[in-house]
Amino acid sequence: MISSAASRGPVRPETVEPGRGDGQDGGAGEAGPGKETSLRRPRAASAAVRPEAWPALAMFGVCALLAAETALLAAIGLGAGDALLPGGDHEGVLFGASLAAAVLGGALASMTLLRALRASRADRDGRAQAEAALRTRDEFLGLAAHELKTPLTALFLELGAAGRDAARRGDEAARGHLSRADRAARRLAELVSRLLVDARAAAEPLALEEVDLGALANDAVDARRELFDRARCDVTVRAEGPVSGRWDRTRVDRALASLLANAAKYGQGRPIEVTVRAEGAQARLSVRDHGIGIPPERRAAIFDRYARAVSARHYGGLGLGLWIARREALALGGTVTVESRPGHGAEFTLRLPAGAVAPLRGLPRAAGGALARAPARALRWLAWRSRRC
Ligand SMILES: Nc1ncnc2c1ncn2[C@@H]1O[C@H](COP(=O)(O)OP(=O)(O)O)[C@@H](O)[C@H]1O
Ligand SMILES: [Mg+2]
Repeated sequence: MISSAASRGPVRPETVEPGRGDGQDGGAGEAGPGKETSLRRPRAASAAVRPEAWPALAMFGVCALLAAETALLAAIGLGAGDALLPGGDHEGVLFGASLAAAVLGGALASMTLLRALRASRADRDGRAQAEAALRTRDEFLGLAAHELKTPLTALFLELGAAGRDAARRGDEAARGHLSRADRAARRLAELVSRLLVDARAAAEPLALEEVDLGALANDAVDARRELFDRARCDVTVRAEGPVSGRWDRTRVDRALASLLANAAKYGQGRPIEVTVRAEGAQARLSVRDHGIGIPPERRAAIFDRYARAVSARHYGGLGLGLWIARREALALGGTVTVESRPGHGAEFTLRLPAGAVAPLRGLPRAAGGALARAPARALRWLAWRSRRC
């Protein structure tokens, strides 16, 4: 049930450009108890300078300073030269020193620039190769998953017919076997469709529309009643006020589906709380379970593709759910974070950018609304403009 204890007004995000976000660094941070693992967008390729090039760039800076200093000395002229070389050929010495420094600085600068360029080209080539390899793998996975679907459909039909036969004959033992086989086949179908989603979804364009996050969470939970019943999990959805924005509904739902499936799987027999609320200029959706939790040293890795932090003998899975959740969040300019205490459960939080938070009730609109929103709006507009230029 969604409780509508509205303490805030609606969150009205501005349009999010497809595939664009706030340009923050990518990767999962380490997260200890009470500390968050933050997953942000990867840095723009053009902004990346390989760390190997940093010393060379520093050297370039030093040389440039040396050259500037020598030139300055020359410009100051004989006054400084007199102090250094009483009675000497000041102009000649200063000119020679400045020339030597400039030649040295120029040579080092060219070397450092060449190294930096080479490093960034190697970086680009490596990235292109990695992307091509990922594309090939995705194509293969997509094809394999598609091919697997046909025999699976036939298997379901046969299992259904055999189950009905067994029921007609009153053969309880056969019915038991067939129902277990049916469950295993369903699980297999789920894994196959996840592979298919994984392979296809990345290429889908964003379809932005007005989304009520609380209603979406409620629908997502309702649609998975069977899953939660099987896991014996009581699920509550709580929306602290209306939170809505322009997002891609399918992608938000896909991210949430992964978090809900995990909460049911790793928090079996315990309650699950889904909370939706506004948080500053963001919409926040969290899924909290009270299951096995995640050891601190594994938290940073669990968002990676095919990464798992549990034994496959105890928990089935492909290690794709969180990777998909993170990918969908990033596509919408958002993040997924986790907090957990091993043995006490985990809380996964999806944050999506919202353009503005409506003023708190009771505050004059000028104080709580437009004024408070102005800096965020201005920054957003500037970011948008700079992307256009
Ligand atoms: N709610 C959770 N509680 C405990 N561990 C979790 C939870 N969600 C995810 N994990 C850990 O993160 C890993 C990756 O999750 P996911 O990508 O969904 O793959 P899968 O569930 O198929 O293993 C899981 O193997 C598990 O170790
Ligand atoms: Mg999972």
